[in-house]
Amino acid sequence: MDLPIQRTLARVIRQDEKEAQVATGEFSELMLAICYGIKVLSQMVQTAGFKGLYGYTGETNASGDKTQKLDEESHVVLEQVLGSAGCFGHMVSEERDEVLPVTRGSKSGKYVVAFDPLDGSSNIGTNIPVGTIFIIFKRLGIENEFLRPASDIVAAGYSVYGAQTSLVFCAGGPVRGFTLDTSLGEFVMTEPDIKAPESGNTYSVNEGNGWDWEANVQSYVNSLKTHERGKPYSGRYVGSLVADFDRTLKKGGIFMHPATKSKPTGKLRLLYEAMPVSYIAEKAGLLTSNGKQSILSLTPSSIHERTGFIVGTKKEMEWFNQAMAS
Ligand code: AHG
Ligand code: MN
Ligand code: MN
Repeated sequence: MDLPIQRTLARVIRQDEKEAQVATGEFSELMLAICYGIKVLSQMVQTAGFKGLYGYTGETNASGDKTQKLDEESHVVLEQVLGSAGCFGHMVSEERDEVLPVTRGSKSGKYVVAFDPLDGSSNIGTNIPVGTIFIIFKRLGIENEFLRPASDIVAAGYSVYGAQTSLVFCAGGPVRGFTLDTSLGEFVMTEPDIKAPESGNTYSVNEGNGWDWEANVQSYVNSLKTHERGKPYSGRYVGSLVADFDRTLKKGGIFMHPATKSKPTGKLRLLYEAMPVSYIAEKAGLLTSNGKQSILSLTPSSIHERTGFIVGTKKEMEWFNQAMAS
């Protein structure tokens, strides 16, 4: 029987760490802590319906979004699991206004982590996939630990709680994909080196915001929906970034959540949504944009800063960049 022992997440991370000569062991600890947190969240999402975790808390988060119980519970799980791992000095969460000092673990944690504990909250209460997004930097002991350029990213990843619980992350090497074997509670590597296709046949955007798009965004989307560029593209929109991105990464096409006339800074958050997803995207051969420049050329000026976010395969992104320059 071919036991996938060599492909379990723990083995793969230790192997990668050795090859990357990052032999502190702390990085492995950190990734295993994140992996444990994602397993807990997966369970929580699956059982939320009968554990009374649907609905709102009555609070709003730093971005002004109404907080759902599952958002808050997901934050609590990650803060506890990552805080006690002893690897982090500080944390940032979508669900907390300020930077969180790590009090449970050792203060000397070499890393800092920002996360979106539950992405796709508008889909909570249905059986539509949601997920978690994280980004990790080395801790510098400076005032603004999280206002860092993409060149400082140590690792980033996202999970999708869907038909399967999947985890995609990159720590500087290949983009790796894992699937949770629920019979063992183990993440097993199913995609050792994810490479995006050169093009696709879907476009993914919330057409309900169409009334508010800039003219060049409108004309670009129209060009995909008609025969202007050949065969019209199919529309696919889940409303959970992790799910829409996972499809774009593996099957190609373009995802757009552009800035609009009434929201010129966009909706998605740069630090813990667009940057981690773009780190994975560009490592796998996709291109990214905020409408003017690549996401990885941006450095956040505040931890909850918003941005327009477009990510896709080379062909569709080259068309997009031409359309924005016209
Ligand atoms: P979150 O649930 O963490 O606030 O993120 C929701 C985001 C993202 O997941 C998705 O792509 C986008 O909001 C959908 O926005 P619209 O509902 O405006 O399309
Ligand atoms: Mn989100
Ligand atoms: Mn969220």
